[in-house]
Amino acid sequence: MKRVVVFTGSGISAESGIKTFRDSGGLWEEHDVRDVATPEAFERNPKLVLEFYNQRRRDAMAAKPNAAHKALVKLENYFEVQIITQNVDDLHERAGSKNVLHLHGEIMKARSTINPNLIYILTSPEINFGDLCALGSQLRPHIVWFGEAVPEIENATKLANTADIFIVIGTSLEVYPAAQLIHYAPRRAQKYYIDPRASENENVPKDMVCIPEKAGVGVVRLVKKLVEELTMNN
Ligand code: APR
Repeated sequence: MKRVVVFTGSGISAESGIKTFRDSGGLWEEHDVRDVATPEAFERNPKLVLEFYNQRRRDAMAAKPNAAHKALVKLENYFEVQIITQNVDDLHERAGSKNVLHLHGEIMKARSTINPNLIYILTSPEINFGDLCALGSQLRPHIVWFGEAVPEIENATKLANTADIFIVIGTSLEVYPAAQLIHYAPRRAQKYYIDPRASENENVPKDMVCIPEKAGVGVVRLVKKLVEELTMNN
């Protein structure tokens, strides 16, 4: 079975009502990263950081997977599909995708501040100041903050390198090391980039087919094309 590796960013969740970061109205227009998404910010004002992520968690819990998430699930009937996402929401999983690797953490998980392997699945939207892990330390969001290591990046580059088809969806490709993934897809792989601003993005390799569409249209259309091509060739 051919392997499709899909690399997603916040753009795939935009039509589910979850804000992106760098578009107009995006999260980094409303908040300074240094106040809400760094270890220093958490040290300085944990309540502000916890509330920032409590609000993002409420938004993620209220959102529903959209047509793009669902089209990627349909692809699993015809290809081996591995999703690598920069997103911390669980919309890929809730749509039914089975293989999802989160590079920047998961909003529905909390972890200990003294043992990073002590991770808790959240069912309520809040982590509050005073919520402690089993070792008695404050719980924090299980999110990779700016300035922190990206533990899954090596796994992700290995997975990207196994792609027969590599699809990038809804990311500005501005944040490293995640953005470097596009250079790990094998030369022989078919490569696609679905994003309304795909054609304006200089970070895109020449052999990547740009599809300047919203995910809800572009992903559905590309999945249909890939399935048709596969069934015609078999
Ligand atoms: N469909 C597809 N793409 C869209 C849509 C849509 N409906 N709406 C917006 N986009 C695209 C934008 O054109 C842009 O290229 O989504 C991209 C969003 O880019 P960013 O806001 O930079 O988000 P992302 O690339 O996911 O950011 C990467 O930065 O702040 C960190 O950790 C955070 O994981 C995040 C990382």
